[in-house]
Amino acid sequence: MSRSWSQVSVGMLAMGLVSVALPAVAQEHGSSDDAQIERGAYLARAGDCVACHTAPGGTPFAGGLAIDSPFGAIYSTNITPDKDHGIGNYSRDQFAAAVRQGVRADGANLYPAMPYPAYAKVSDEDIDALYAYFMHGVEPVSEQPTKTDLSFPFNQRWGIALWDWFFTDEPTTAAAPGGEDPVARGRYLVEGLGHCGSCHTPRGLAYQSKALDDSDSDFLSGANLNGWLAPALRGGDGVAGMGISDWSEEEIVEYLATGRNAHAAVGGEMTSVIEHSTSHLSDDDLQAIAAYLKTLPSVESDTQHAFDATADSDTERQLTGATDLSEGAELYLNSCNACHFANGKGAPRVFPSLVGNSLINADDPSGLIHTILAGAELPSTPKAPERLMMPGFAWRMSDEEVANLATFLRQGWGNQAPGVSADQVAAVRSELDPEETHSSQPDPVYAEPNASE
Ligand code: HEC
Ligand code: HEC
Ligand code: HEC
Repeated sequence: MSRSWSQVSVGMLAMGLVSVALPAVAQEHGSSDDAQIERGAYLARAGDCVACHTAPGGTPFAGGLAIDSPFGAIYSTNITPDKDHGIGNYSRDQFAAAVRQGVRADGANLYPAMPYPAYAKVSDEDIDALYAYFMHGVEPVSEQPTKTDLSFPFNQRWGIALWDWFFTDEPTTAAAPGGEDPVARGRYLVEGLGHCGSCHTPRGLAYQSKALDDSDSDFLSGANLNGWLAPALRGGDGVAGMGISDWSEEEIVEYLATGRNAHAAVGGEMTSVIEHSTSHLSDDDLQAIAAYLKTLPSVESDTQHAFDATADSDTERQLTGATDLSEGAELYLNSCNACHFANGKGAPRVFPSLVGNSLINADDPSGLIHTILAGAELPSTPKAPERLMMPGFAWRMSDEEVANLATFLRQGWGNQAPGVSADQVAAVRSELDPEETHSSQPDPVYAEPNASE
């Protein structure tokens, strides 16, 4: 079981192949007032509706993105207010049923590629605002996206009703907590609209999230998304060196607002989440999310190895002495040291720290291998508009070399993840999309080995 509902194609957004601008607010307002529509636009950001309901290069909300599922591609639908191809004929209650219960206006069940199991927690008032926005704040787009066409028995939508019965909760009736109780507000956003658990909570055999709320310690305990770790988000005391338990609230807020902080730089599918969703949230809401995550006790994770902050690591001495170097250490000095430095800590907010880094300590090294081969690019956000880039090394390192380098990173500076083999590198390389690599051309600055550093 390596795939879950919402992954691969959303990853295309993450890789920056598509960049979407939200449409200008339309002129006609009907009965809803401007403030409510604006509120709805904000909530649509919090729910990241645009990420799934936009095809690569397509009009925002017009649908057509293929979402990989174990049973075939599920296409998102047009949720603009067009009456023929979109949701223009949806009443407010039909809209609420689609978003919170996964039931379409014609009564058919939606595939849980649409995160209604999480959205079940969205309050009535927030549904009203979202409805006002989608009816009056979004321009109708008269386009029919590709229709989902799974083979038998997965085309039998009634079967989903059974799945829903087992794996989803009744929709909420409670009002959304406001700013006066930040932890409650954070819980509401994380469990509900933010649908953070759809990536960060492990999936069971029926691809259901193992937990939909924090009554269960599986909630946000980390999951493997097609080889890329969505780390544990349980930030409180518990297991030292596990995920974000070493991050302060301010550092969590900074990461969600800008994709970077003293510990990490965003990559993989989280890039799109930050670019289109969390970087647009208010400081108060980000603070609430951080306060909430810090209340969840950290747990041992199947997907991530704890980092040992107290390890007496001689990695830095080894690198600066430049004697007795393993091949991995030598490669690091030649290709990585210039930006990430001998102490592995880089330069905060510019070159991310590799020490205790979740991507490096992931049980599955695919995300790390991918980053070394293809490079990475930080998203542009309102608070950190510059796009920082790391070059890719696919063009100049063999599978064996990348494996040795990755093993060095996973065992240096107190990191304690298992080694990487050349076969694992070959597998990631064979899936690499040449368009994705951030530097397939030799980069003049880094083309010359520079072992004297
Ligand atoms: C992780 C991907 C994902 C996200 C995020 C997402 N959706 Fe969806 N949504 C889908 C998919 C896929 C479908 C179609 C499922 C199917 O055909 O069974 C869908 C269907 C719908 C439908 C039914 C439309 C119809 O054609 O009848 C509505 C309404 C909807 N989504 C609204 C929203 C809103 C509002 C948000 C944000 C709060 C949102 N969605 C966020 C994936 C997503
Ligand atoms: C579409 C899948 C997806 C969704 C939805 C998602 N995340 Fe993530 N998240 C990821 C992945 C993948 C990573 C790893 C990023 C990397 O390797 O750089 C990540 C990383 C993170 C990190 C950094 C953790 C670390 O140890 O480095 C934080 C914090 C985070 N996410 C918070 C959130 C919050 C809060 C939400 C909900 C508002 C959320 N995420 C929703 C996929 C997702
Ligand atoms: C030109 C400067 C530069 C060089 C050289 C460089 N990096 Fe990076 N690296 C960056 C930047 C900038 C980022 C942040 C980009 C991002 O994650 O989106 C980054 C990100 C990373 C990450 C992801 C960290 C995270 O928190 O997700 C890893 C792992 C990494 N680099 C390892 C390496 C390795 C190994 C090498 C040598 C083969 C290397 N880097 C060479 C600048 C560089």
